[in-house]
Amino acid sequence: MTPDRTDRNVFDGELLYPMGPILAIESSCDETACAILSAEGEVLAEKVISQEAHAAFGGVVPEIAARAHLALLPDLARKTVEASGLALHDLGAVAASTGPGLIGGLIVGANFGKGLAMALGKPFIAVNHIEAHALSARLPGVSKKNISFPFLLLLVSGGHCQCLAVEGVGDYRRLGGTIDDAAGEAFDKVAKMLGLGWPGGPQLEALAKEGNPAAFAFPRPLKGRAGCDFSFSGLKTALARQIEPYGNTALPRSVAADLSASFQQAVADVIEDRVRHAFAMMEPPPTTLVAAGGVAANGVLRASLTRIAAEHGVPFVAPPLRLCTDNAVMVGWAALEVCREARRLGLPMPDDRAVRPRPRWPLSDMRERFAMESESL
Ligand code: KG4
Ligand code: ZN
Repeated sequence: MTPDRTDRNVFDGELLYPMGPILAIESSCDETACAILSAEGEVLAEKVISQEAHAAFGGVVPEIAARAHLALLPDLARKTVEASGLALHDLGAVAASTGPGLIGGLIVGANFGKGLAMALGKPFIAVNHIEAHALSARLPGVSKKNISFPFLLLLVSGGHCQCLAVEGVGDYRRLGGTIDDAAGEAFDKVAKMLGLGWPGGPQLEALAKEGNPAAFAFPRPLKGRAGCDFSFSGLKTALARQIEPYGNTALPRSVAADLSASFQQAVADVIEDRVRHAFAMMEPPPTTLVAAGGVAANGVLRASLTRIAAEHGVPFVAPPLRLCTDNAVMVGWAALEVCREARRLGLPMPDDRAVRPRPRWPLSDMRERFAMESESL
């Protein structure tokens, strides 16, 4: 049967790439993670270690992260293979986040993956970490109905804040992104100002439950502006100004709670406005609104996103938290999607041993993966 080259949602799937389960590695930030997925996308084993050494510094220290990945990864990979009940030679491929991210960790994960793939004589798939977030909602079982292209992705984490039109595997259009801080970064910095621990988002959300979201009239940066760029630094400064009068004295809990609730509401309002604009920028319209990244765990934000999706008559899907934050399951799934797309287009099984880890790796480059391979045929 000839693969359908026009409708990206159709796949005849009769011969699977890779020919066996895939071991996936994530090491682009401060999570060391491994997972094994069957070639059909069933999760056979997954393990993740969130590095704790960074908490004392109030943020991720790249050098510490790289050393920790190096110390943790070999044993974690071994334990993941054991937990899957498979032997190493049963694997059909190895994949790793190869960018964007902190270069030290990327080098550790990608080189470990390449070394193992070479030793096993199996292909290595270099996964773009943002692409992995983008496709994670399509993992079997995440939503009741399979999410088809095109869909609108809001990616909000400690390092990323952007809206993407996901038009197909390898085909991503950036609709807008942050011009200063990422959403999670803003949560973390504000939480630090309020004397909360790190990462701050979950603690700020918990404290906000005791506060009044209308207590402080914080700005809504870029709200109503054309496009869907984001900005959070002005909001952070506005909050710092409210704290100043307290000097070195501890903030009363009720004030900290009101500040948290008002800040959280401002962030949710801004994101709601930006996502409305993103909807208007997509033609054809998206089938689904998807949110991913750690901040997608936020209840107030989820409520806004559910409302916008309903207004547009599409479902809102946020993968479960363990798939929203950095994990290796999404890396394995993205690798399978890339392999399936290659198969659908009649291209050979990809092998990316020559792809170097990259701290920056724009999603627009992913379009070339299939175009280049088709030219070289
Ligand atoms: O995706 P993630 O685990 O790591 C990366 O940054 O890649 O996201 C972590 C970020 C942190 O900034 C954390 O404060 C934020 O997500 N976060 C939240 C919540 N849970 C995690 N922000 C707001 N509300 C939450 N409930
Ligand atoms: Zn991430």
